[in-house]
Amino acid sequence: MKRLCVIAGDGIGPEVTPVAVDALRLLIPNLQIFEAQAGWNCFLQQGCAVPESTLELMRECGAGLFGAVQSPARAVAGYRSAILTLRQQLGLSVNLRPVRSWPAISPKPGIDLMVLRENSEGLYVGREHMVSSDHAVAERHISRQACELLAQRTAQVARQRETKRITLVHKANVLPLTCGLFRDSCRTVLEHEGMGALVDERLVDVAALQLVEQPEAFDLVVTTNLFGDVLSDLASYWSGGLATAPSLNWGEGIALAEPVHGSAPDIAGTGRANPIAALLSAALLLRYHWELRDEAACLENAVEAFLRESHGVGFGTHTTQRVAAGVLSRIQLALE
Ligand code: IPM
Ligand code: MN
Repeated sequence: MKRLCVIAGDGIGPEVTPVAVDALRLLIPNLQIFEAQAGWNCFLQQGCAVPESTLELMRECGAGLFGAVQSPARAVAGYRSAILTLRQQLGLSVNLRPVRSWPAISPKPGIDLMVLRENSEGLYVGREHMVSSDHAVAERHISRQACELLAQRTAQVARQRETKRITLVHKANVLPLTCGLFRDSCRTVLEHEGMGALVDERLVDVAALQLVEQPEAFDLVVTTNLFGDVLSDLASYWSGGLATAPSLNWGEGIALAEPVHGSAPDIAGTGRANPIAALLSAALLLRYHWELRDEAACLENAVEAFLRESHGVGFGTHTTQRVAAGVLSRIQLALE
C-alpha cells in the first residue's frame, strides 16, 4: 500500500497542497496519508523548522508532498530553510524540474525540457566563513559520487522520455576542478549507459542565453546545484512562470514532490493561490518515484485539458477553487 507524508508548511502551502492530495487520492484510491510539520510556523511553535518526527515519517512513507515554507528576511539563530534540511537529511540528491508549454498560459508552444539539478552539494553545502571582517569565503563542493548519481538518474529519465539530447551545463573554463569533475564524471556514466552520442555541453552563461533564445532546442539539461536553481527559474518562464513549475526531490527509494514557488504570504488566505505547480509535482511523484505512468499522464492530461478549455487561468479570486474543481473533475471523468 502506498503511503504519503504531507508537509503543507506555511503561507499558500496549506491551500495548494490539499488539491494535489485530492488528485492523488483519486488516482490511488487506497493511498494512506500522514501529515507532518515543517517551516517557519513550526519553528515558532516547536523551536525547530524540521522536527525529527517529520524526518521519521518521511522515511517511513518513502514519499512526500511539500507545500511551501516561509523564511525570515534576516538570519535567525537556529533557523535554516526547511527544504534544504529535508533534502540533506533524506538524501534527496537529485532535483527534477520539467518545463513544458501549456495551452493558453505559456508564451510559446513546442517546449518540453527538464532541468536535472544536483541537489545535495555545490555551493549549497552552506560552508561560509569570514577570513577577516572584509573577506568572506564560500566553499563549493563537487563529488564524483553525487555527479554519478545525477547522471544515472539522467539516464533513467532519458530512457523514459526517449530523450534526443542531454546538455551538461557547467563553467569549466573558470572552475576546471569542480566543474571539470562534474562534466567528466557525468560523461563517463552517460557513455557507459550507451548515451554518449546524445551528450553535449554548454557553459552556463551560454546556456542561459540559449534557454531564452531557443528553449525548444533543449531536452535534458543536467547541472550543478546553484546553476540548476537559477536556470530552472529562468526556464519556468516558458511554462507560464513559477505558478506552474513543479519539481521532484529524488533520492534512493524516497522522493519529495515540491512546487518551486514559495509561500507567497501576500496572497495567502485570499483564494488566489494557483495549485497547478503542486498538482504537477504530484504527477512527478507518480511517474518517476512510484512508476505509475498512466496515473501521471492522467493528471497532466487533466491539467492540460483544463487550461485549454478554460483558456488559461488568471490570478483572480477563487483561483485555487477553480483550478481544483476543473482538474479534479477531469481526472474523475477520465477514470470512469
Ligand atoms: C528552490 C528554492 C530553494 C533553493 C530555497 C528556498 C532554499 O529556491 O527550491 O529552488 O534555493 O533550492
Ligand atoms: Mn530556486
